[in-house]
Formats: sequence, structure tokens, C-alpha cells
Amino acid sequence: MTTYLVTGANGQLGHLAVEALLKTVPAANVAALVRSAEKGAELKALGVDVRIGDYDKPETLEAAFKGIDRLLLVSSSQVGKRKVQHGNAIAAAKRAGVGLVAYTSLLHADAKLLKILSDEHNATEAALAGSGIPYVLLRNGWYTENLVQSLPHAIESGVYASAAGDGRFATATRADYAAAAAAVLTGAEIKPGTIYELAGDEAFTLTDFVAEAARQAEKPITYTSLPEADYRAALVAAGLPAPVADMLADSDTGAANGGLFDDSHTLSKLIGRPTTPYAETIAAALKA
Ligand SMILES: NC(=O)c1ccc[n+]([C@@H]2O[C@H](COP(=O)([O-])OP(=O)(O)OC[C@H]3O[C@@H](n4cnc5c(N)ncnc54)[C@H](OP(=O)(O)O)[C@@H]3O)[C@@H](O)[C@H]2O)c1
Repeated sequence: MTTYLVTGANGQLGHLAVEALLKTVPAANVAALVRSAEKGAELKALGVDVRIGDYDKPETLEAAFKGIDRLLLVSSSQVGKRKVQHGNAIAAAKRAGVGLVAYTSLLHADAKLLKILSDEHNATEAALAGSGIPYVLLRNGWYTENLVQSLPHAIESGVYASAAGDGRFATATRADYAAAAAAVLTGAEIKPGTIYELAGDEAFTLTDFVAEAARQAEKPITYTSLPEADYRAALVAAGLPAPVADMLADSDTGAANGGLFDDSHTLSKLIGRPTTPYAETIAAALKA
């Protein structure tokens, strides 16, 4: 029977992807890569094969990937280090004889509208293409959770700031993207080289998003779109490290230019249900 491994399995998306796989695959055939046994404790309780490996330690990865037919390479959270880290993972997958890699890239990464994020994803996509390993690209759009996490501050201050202008976002939840990853990985016939542009069914501007949040919170919130440099400066002033501020401000500009919009509905077709409405994600966050 086909064996699966999910990297970043202690992370939010990876964990959900393991859970999604377990809906149709026996736990004995699912492995999860984490950086320490401690980080794998919860996964172990699910019955999956917890393997230890670190993208920064190539020697750990080959052994961890042995015997795996289909590998979900969840992109690392360490922005700036990812070309090397993902290169290490791909080289190890090749040496270990992995049958197929599905990589979580970025929506329309080739359009390069989110310049900072697309750079590392493009490099990883190129490394996969050059590796000789059969692969597919799961180009994930924005998580609705990214937008929702600013709500507590917005509700308190009455202002939701960004640099995204009137750009349309077609977001989905991590659980939606995880379900899509599991659907692709467990597909009866995977066509190597397929690129899945994954996004939510609804497209909305931040004006729409903030109005819905204000309605649900019963508090006035004004959406303010700043020029990229001003937004970046505000993020730094709020205490964010400069590279994170650069990435967030650049991503907003990319979104303003349509980089996070897609209307293919590929995600909902894959998962066989509509993607989670943003109003629902807002409601869940406000209840928490
Ligand atoms: N589409 C979007 O809107 C969006 C938003 C944010 C991030 N992302 C990307 O999507 C990925 C998954 O999102 P997420 O929310 O699940 O992020 P997350 O919760 O931060 O999970 C990231 C995972 O990457 C693992 N990781 C980091 N460095 C590693 C290394 N050197 N070796 C092995 N594993 C390493 C982390 O391991 P530990 O648990 O050991 O730290 C963690 O499990 C992110 O890493 C990022 O690339 C996408």
C-alpha cells in the first residue's frame, strides 16, 4: 500500500494535512516529519510513524524519507532560508527514492506579484523541476487566518491597516488547503507536473472583510490602506523585525495588484465542497 510522509507536521498546516490523510489512509501508512521527538508526541498519539529530520541538517532527511511513495513538502516557515532548506529536502527525497513530491508553493508564484515570497517558491519549484523526481505543485493562496489574526488589534484600535488597497483576496482556511493536499496525494492517478492554483471560492476586498468583522464584533473598524513604505514603517514601529515587515508590506502590494486573487475554484473542486467562507473564519476567531 502507498506510503505518505508530511513534513512540517508539527506546524498548523502539516498537522491538518496528517489528519486529512488519516480520513482515508491507515495510520500505519502515514509518516510525519518533525524536528524532535517532543514535537512529535501529539502525532505519535494519532498512530502515525513519527520521523525526526531538519531541513537544515541534510543528513537527517534521507533516512527520514526512506520507503516513502508520496511526500508532502510543506514549505518552511523560515523565510530567507528556504531556498537552501527546500533544496536539502528535495535532494534527500531524490536519494531516498521518494516516488512523488507535492510542494506547498504560493498562488500564481510565477506571476511574481508577491516579490519576496515568490522568489523562494520559484527557486523551489525550479529545484523540483530539475530534480528528476515526479512532482506536483500545490500553489496555496492566502490563509484566511492571516487576515483574522489582526482583528483583536483592529477591534481595540478601531483601525485595520494594510497596504493591500482594493486588491481582491480569494482566501481559504488552512484546513481547506490541507484537505486539498490530502486529496491530491491520495489521488488514484497523479499527473506529474500538475500545478494546482488553490484559492477560496469567495473573493473579497479588505473593505468587505473589515465591514464583516465590524458587523460581527459590533464595533466600528475603519479599513485604512497605506502606501507600502508607510505600512512597512508602521509594522516596524509596532515591533516587527524589519525582514518580516518587508515581507508583509510587499505581500500586501502584491495583493493590491491581484496576486492573491484566483477564480478557478480548483480548491473546492478538489475537496468536493465549498471552501470555508471568511465570515465563518471571522466568527470562529471572535468566539475563541
Ligand atoms: N499561504 C499562506 O497564507 C501562508 C501563511 C503563512 C505561512 N505559509 C507557508 O506555509 C507553511 C505552512 O504554514 P503553517 O501555518 O503550518 O506554518 P507553521 O505552523 O509555522 O509550520 C511551519 C512548519 O515548518 C517547520 N519547520 C521550520 N523550520 C524547519 C526546519 N529547519 N526543518 C524542518 N521543519 C521546519 C516547523 O517545525 P517546528 O514545528 O519544529 O517549528 C513547522 O512544523 C509555512 O511554513 C510557510 O512556508 C503560508
